[in-house]
Amino acid sequence: MSEEANLGKEEFECLEDLPGVGPAMSKRLRELGFHTVESMATATAKELAPAGIGEKKALQIIRTARSSMALSFIRADELMKMRQTVSRLTTGSKMLDELLGGGLETQTITEFFGEYGSGKSQICHQMCVNVQLASQRGGLGGGVLYIDTENTFRTERIVQMAQHLGLEPEKVIRNIVFAEAYTSDHQMFLLDNADEVIKENGIRLIIVDSLTSHFRSEYLGREMLAERQQKLNKHLHKLVRLARAFNAVAVVTNQVMSRPDIFFGNAVHPVGGHIVAHTSHTRVLLRKSARGPIRIARLVSSPYLPEGETIFKITENGIEAAVDEEKAG
Ligand code: GTP
Ligand code: MG
Repeated sequence: MSEEANLGKEEFECLEDLPGVGPAMSKRLRELGFHTVESMATATAKELAPAGIGEKKALQIIRTARSSMALSFIRADELMKMRQTVSRLTTGSKMLDELLGGGLETQTITEFFGEYGSGKSQICHQMCVNVQLASQRGGLGGGVLYIDTENTFRTERIVQMAQHLGLEPEKVIRNIVFAEAYTSDHQMFLLDNADEVIKENGIRLIIVDSLTSHFRSEYLGREMLAERQQKLNKHLHKLVRLARAFNAVAVVTNQVMSRPDIFFGNAVHPVGGHIVAHTSHTRVLLRKSARGPIRIARLVSSPYLPEGETIFKITENGIEAAVDEEKAG
């Protein structure tokens, strides 16, 4: 950040510090899910209307929050510096990291999709442990927010993975903030109200496993497709804004069914079509292989990386290199 850009930049710690936000208004804002200055900086005037804030005033407050976070016009050299704040989180497999351009990226969403048992939830578990590693070991030294929609999160598995990496299991478990989402509405509510939890717990990884299961079972048929996609899009939008505001990695999973009738090209297709493509969205297809623990990961879309494919392994230890050279190299 240049010195000029920092001039006049005020730091606001909490909602009440923002000029024009009194105790009554901050209470209403909190009820709407805005708990932090960061969340205000990325809000729209329309979103603040239910708090009884007129458009003009809303814009003023949002602008102040933005100036405090320097989220306005910036020069391209500053944009470059901002990109440099993007960090990477290791998957535990060097080859998978390389496919992803050095690991999972902060400030964007990474979607793992694939059929049942392809390893989506196992990767989520592994990330919960890896994010707690120091940066020299490929971690971000941060905590986790885990939204589970299928009741598949297992602390025993976390313990196993933590032990393998020489981390203290109790400590690792304590750094994971967990919530089970009972419906798609509940899932959206949890994320909409997550900003304070994220800030207070130093969270650097947000997981939604599975992103799509509730939406799929609740919004059935063609006539509900548009509404479902709209809600999913809003949910993803919220997620990417949180990932940007807190420089966090966001991981979502999406189950797809395999289509044995197709032998070439894309052998699996998401039930009910693709999630609306997002500009900050990396998509990785996971497949089982004939060789038991080996999984195939294919990068199918990324904002800037080329498509590609690699393999990794799921073992007692977690996500690991599929070939020995990887460890040596
Ligand atoms: P759905 O949620 O059903 O769509 O599947 P998923 O993609 O989330 O699959 P998940 O990540 O749960 O992968 C399950 C697979 O991981 C199992 O079939 C095992 O092959 C492997 N796995 C899970 N736990 C262990 C473990 O403790 N040890 C070993 N060796 N493998 C495990
Ligand atoms: Mg799963």
